[in-house]
Amino acid sequence: MFADRVLSGMRPTGRMHIGHYHGALKNWIKLQEEYECLFFAADWHALTTHFDESETIADSVWEMFVDWLAAGVDPTRATLFIQSRVPEHAELTLLLGMITPVGWLERVPTYKDQQQRLVDRDLSNFGFLGYPVMMSADILVYRANKVPVGEDQVSHIEVTRELARRFNHIYGREPGFEEKAKGAIKKLGRAKAKRYETMRTAFQEQGDTQALEAARELLEETQNLSLGDRERLFGYLEGSRRVILPEPQPLLTETPRVPGLDGQKMSKSYGNAILMREEPAAVTQKIRTMQTDPARARRSDPGDPEHGPVWPLHQIYSSRETRDWVWKGCTTAGIGCLDCKQPVIDAIIKEQQPMRERAQKYVDDPTLVRNIVADGCERARKLAEETMRDVRDAMGLSYD
Ligand code: TRP
Repeated sequence: MFADRVLSGMRPTGRMHIGHYHGALKNWIKLQEEYECLFFAADWHALTTHFDESETIADSVWEMFVDWLAAGVDPTRATLFIQSRVPEHAELTLLLGMITPVGWLERVPTYKDQQQRLVDRDLSNFGFLGYPVMMSADILVYRANKVPVGEDQVSHIEVTRELARRFNHIYGREPGFEEKAKGAIKKLGRAKAKRYETMRTAFQEQGDTQALEAARELLEETQNLSLGDRERLFGYLEGSRRVILPEPQPLLTETPRVPGLDGQKMSKSYGNAILMREEPAAVTQKIRTMQTDPARARRSDPGDPEHGPVWPLHQIYSSRETRDWVWKGCTTAGIGCLDCKQPVIDAIIKEQQPMRERAQKYVDDPTLVRNIVADGCERARKLAEETMRDVRDAMGLSYD
């Protein structure tokens, strides 16, 4: 508990495209090497905007999992699961809802934004407004401290942090906290106790956040503490409450924005996507028909690489030399537009080759995917249940 744990989720949108790969999955695959990771299909989240298309969700979930596995998410390292198969998400959502000021939700930028953008959808629902509460529960129910997300999700993590703080403030109170915390310090052993106290003082008296971080690390490394003592010691660093739900940090995925075939944001619904496991012939055809700089009406007209949607793909897929070659060739009419596109076509096909291979066995035998996810749901559920026991306890709802 309170050790590093990564959690991230995606709404089920069916087959993944190269925007998902470069924007998220590639990063997940790196993270799974280093951290305990939990990755889930956010099927309830899909309902917040698409409650009237619920019958398509299940197929989308399975397709999405195949692509995660194809990308290299490793089920022996990461736990893959479905949100709705872990009902503790719903319980924590409900409980957090009790302490969520409505104003916090109305002020989340995506709330008004999406309402304005998705005009064909009815978004004046409790569920849609409460979306960040559910997302907070997704994270806090695992006490995950690292959440890889894109820029657009950062405001939701901020809500999560505020909710965790509020929860701890309201329910982390306990009679005799200070004495209990002091008792717990003693259990650290003399050397660690001294370091803990020095760092706590440095933070409380001088606002030394590095000392705070170091003290937390010290606690993370300490194995022989009871859950209650651990919560007290985390809490005592900053104040007079136990920390039942730790505040997570967003891990911003630095990604080149992958444009679609038409230069707009890549999205299956815009029909401008290159799928993660696209047939090579389809990759070739899609790239070959991409728009080019209108200034190059004839092969002999020079152009500007930045006047077309192919250049951003070179920035993702091409080496420096290739990019220099493109730049020079385009601006001097030394190469044609199809010449320019070929290295991108080759690179995408090459990148996708191992994905197509990895996916094959799951396509041939879908029960493999079902089993991986069934295992993942079970594992996730155990972790979530641990947190919920503690949450109910703190709230006085244990009835034992
Ligand atoms: N809201 C995220 C999105 O739309 C998906 C998501 C749901 C999520 N719950 C999460 C991401 C928890 C990270 C952590 O992309």
